[in-house]
Amino acid sequence: MTPELQKAWDALRAHHKDVADRRIETLFEGDRAAAFSAQTEELKLDYAKTNLDAEGVQLLLDLARAADLEGRRAAMFSGAPINETEGRAVLHTALRNIDGGPVTVDGQDVMGEVRDTLARMEAFANSVRDGSFTGQGGRITDVINIGIGGSDLGPAMGTLALAPYHDGPRCHFVSNVDPADIAQVLEVCDPETTLVIVASKTFTTIETMTNARTAKAWMSERVSDPAAQFAALSTAEDKTAAFGIDPARVFGFADWVGGRYSMWGPIGLSLMIAVGPRAFRAFLDGGAQMDRHFQAAEGTDNLPLMLALVGIWHNQICGYATRAVLPYDNNLSRLPAYLQQLEMESNGKGVSMDGADLTLHSGPVVWGEPGTNGQHAFYQLIHQGTRVIPCEFLVAARGHRDELHHQHQLLVANCLAQSEALMTGRDLDAARAKVADRFEGDELERQAKHRVFPGNRPSVTLAYPQLTPFRLGQIIALYEHRVFVEGVILGINSFDQWGVELGKELATALQPIVEGADASGKDGSTAGLVGFLRDRGL
Ligand code: F6P
Repeated sequence: MTPELQKAWDALRAHHKDVADRRIETLFEGDRAAAFSAQTEELKLDYAKTNLDAEGVQLLLDLARAADLEGRRAAMFSGAPINETEGRAVLHTALRNIDGGPVTVDGQDVMGEVRDTLARMEAFANSVRDGSFTGQGGRITDVINIGIGGSDLGPAMGTLALAPYHDGPRCHFVSNVDPADIAQVLEVCDPETTLVIVASKTFTTIETMTNARTAKAWMSERVSDPAAQFAALSTAEDKTAAFGIDPARVFGFADWVGGRYSMWGPIGLSLMIAVGPRAFRAFLDGGAQMDRHFQAAEGTDNLPLMLALVGIWHNQICGYATRAVLPYDNNLSRLPAYLQQLEMESNGKGVSMDGADLTLHSGPVVWGEPGTNGQHAFYQLIHQGTRVIPCEFLVAARGHRDELHHQHQLLVANCLAQSEALMTGRDLDAARAKVADRFEGDELERQAKHRVFPGNRPSVTLAYPQLTPFRLGQIIALYEHRVFVEGVILGINSFDQWGVELGKELATALQPIVEGADASGKDGSTAGLVGFLRDRGL
């Protein structure tokens, strides 16, 4: 860590010490709401309900500067190999730069290839949607995307998010190697009218390849040329050929697209088939608009920067270990799962870029569920539990059901009520007043204490007009850049994922044992569990 960066962290910690005990609502002087929000025409990121003041924000901006955020951002967009442990550029932004200028990797402009692949995807998606590409039994009725992690969560989340725009064939997503996952999808599909998309950057992921073989076997029972109803999305064209998929239906991408950043390119094919190429282009445009905003907006006007700085404040400075993502937009029901991979696979690292142990905490645990469902499940702990959980609300001005707008208004009221309740809480006097007509004396005190809400719990709210394809693109790119900024400030590589390797290796080694080989070389716990499961039918 440079002395300048160390100084910036120290200054923030000292500031936090001074302000940690005050209450957020006491900060509301003047136009705090405007000063502590970042806004574009269509998006408003409100962080007024946090314990940040002008000095805190300035110290966070100093921290970003000391971490050379501007330099790192320029390096990313210029195609420099900022994924240093894998020696790769990080250019998922090129996939949405469709109307933009050249983007070079090793001196070569990659935009021609990006546009060609997009055009091929669009032609194929159109042929599936208009019926000119058919299965053996006629027009495609169902699409099954088989993939996992970034090859599943992006298109699965996006297809749910854009359900109001879904006018193509039904889309199913199979990810888990658990046979229950694929079995329930195959049960409702007709092999003669189903298109199977095998989505795997590496085309080696064991879950995906196992499910792909299962789907091929299922199809070959009724279809003479099953591979003709398969498409592949991968960087490994030799492996897709070995699987028997015609190169005409293979959509490749380069290694500078990380799995969890890949829904903008071929991995988004199922989403494109669902909503159509036009809507998919609008999604790309939204992402590209956020890229331009991220590069151009200054300081507190920059949404990804401010979202990241609030995240750093809560996690690394205040010490809050988790972050709840709470979309009051049911179509974003898979956003928390999507963000779990995006944020935790990117910033869940214990070693900084130069190989030294991280002296700060890595990124937070990210979790959540759509409101209002969460209110009737885990909000109890958010309001009255002993740990503080910063909450991130997402809410739209309008849903897609104008005839039910009154219900949407109720949804919005609930969202705003939660952030208000988290901030203001309810003190003992107010709690007493609530039950004074029913209890008295010691019992009144006891009952009242259970009804106290400590409050002073921070939240941010992202508000937007409506969840359109364009808006979804903006929102996802916003979160991607937030992860990038947090990674730069922590000094880690947000674009590798070595932490997933050990489990994969051990699973491969354990497979013969669960199939019957001797387990005695394993630790006692593992061997005991194998024995227990074997005795019961494994
Ligand atoms: O195991 C983690 C991971 O490598 C993710 O980063 C990736 O999104 C996922 O597996 C799937 O990988 P692939 O697309 O190569 O099948």
